[in-house]
Amino acid sequence: MIKATIRVLLLRLSVISLVIPCVNGVMDTSVVKKVAAINEVGPYLGIVIPNAFELYPFLNESILTLETTVDISGRRFYVGIVEGQRVVAVMTGLGMLNAGITTQLLITYFNISGILHYGIAGNADDNLNIGDITIPQYWAHLGLWEWERYTGGALSWRLFKSAKGEDMKEEDLRCIEFGKYNVPVGNASNLLSKVCYDEEEILSVTGSPEIVEKHFWVPVDDTYYKLASQITTKDLNLQRCVDASKCLSHAPQVVMVSRGASASIFLDNAAYRSFLHSYFNVSPVDEESAAVALTCLTNNIPFITFRALSDLAGGSNATNEVSTFLNLASVNAVIVLTEFIRMLPSQLLTTLTK
Ligand SMILES: *[C@@H]1O[C@H](CO)[C@@H](O)[C@H](O)[C@H]1NC(C)=O
Ligand SMILES: *[C@@H]1O[C@H](CO)[C@@H](O)[C@H](O)[C@H]1NC(C)=O
Ligand SMILES: *[C@@H]1O[C@H](CO)[C@@H](O)[C@H](O)[C@H]1NC(C)=O
Ligand SMILES: *[C@@H]1O[C@H](CO)[C@@H](O)[C@H](O)[C@H]1NC(C)=O
Repeated sequence: MIKATIRVLLLRLSVISLVIPCVNGVMDTSVVKKVAAINEVGPYLGIVIPNAFELYPFLNESILTLETTVDISGRRFYVGIVEGQRVVAVMTGLGMLNAGITTQLLITYFNISGILHYGIAGNADDNLNIGDITIPQYWAHLGLWEWERYTGGALSWRLFKSAKGEDMKEEDLRCIEFGKYNVPVGNASNLLSKVCYDEEEILSVTGSPEIVEKHFWVPVDDTYYKLASQITTKDLNLQRCVDASKCLSHAPQVVMVSRGASASIFLDNAAYRSFLHSYFNVSPVDEESAAVALTCLTNNIPFITFRALSDLAGGSNATNEVSTFLNLASVNAVIVLTEFIRMLPSQLLTTLTK
């Protein structure tokens, strides 16, 4: 009786899976075949794009010669050619979770030789201007925290221990102390105490399963970074005006910077912006790049990020500039991405039979 019931259940399950093959995330066999045919003529450059406004200028046929698309797990993968190189491009959706999931899907399903990521960003660096396109050498996720308890000024109990099990020294911790930001300034006591930034734990394809590696600053690929530095001297005809009445105060520059930081946080706060730059030497702040970086590190795939500055992340007294400059910054990021792809060593292209 029980066996019969189980058999009926199993039968029902298999019928359901035949009728609606893709709803639970498992790939339909027709999709598997299509992806296999696509991979045969690989490898591809993976292009990872956060939002629709950043995707849109890339889909312009003057940039992307589209061959086919494949939909997997709620994402659309665009297969085509940019500047003579095969690419698979995909929009992730906002934030670290989406960026991590989508980058992993791209790497798992497609034959990817490297990941190029681009988008807009907030500017935490007073030496740069809205409109500049930053290319950082290192990325960190600054949203993995240990939040310390309030001790009223006594030395606080610490989650962070040194290798010997001792409390870590103040100077070795990466913390922000909320009391330093009280109004009026000067009273270092605040019930929110402090937040300390933790390292990420990576389970790498080159390591052993379940053995984590700790990483904080993730470097972009060295070869990509050196190649990208050649873009800074080129005249790329970057956009400077949104319309006849709204132009950038400075002509946009492509700049190599040391560090960028990400978290699933839209930053519009002058004090935190200033902390990020003075404490971590961060220039662009965004919501995806470090997730892409960490996913590439996990998979041992080279990557680089191009982020065009769309706003001051809270650094000006005017309303946040992002709504004015996001389209201009997106277009300029695509121009820099395209130039980078043009500079990569050319591949021999085989025809994709759809
Ligand atoms: C990936 O592309 C390379 C180069 O074309 C090819 O040799 C290899 O078989 C491809 N890998 C897969 C899994 O399709
Ligand atoms: C596509 O790109 C061309 C060349 O840069 C540009 O003139 C055109 O306006 C773009 N089209 C759209 C729909 O953005
Ligand atoms: C700081 O704030 C605490 C709590 O309100 C208060 O007891 C203390 O007197 C203040 N110290 C200074 C120097 O203002
Ligand atoms: C913004 O406003 C504050 C307070 O009024 C002022 O001290 C600061 O100089 C202003 N900053 C800028 C960039 O205008």
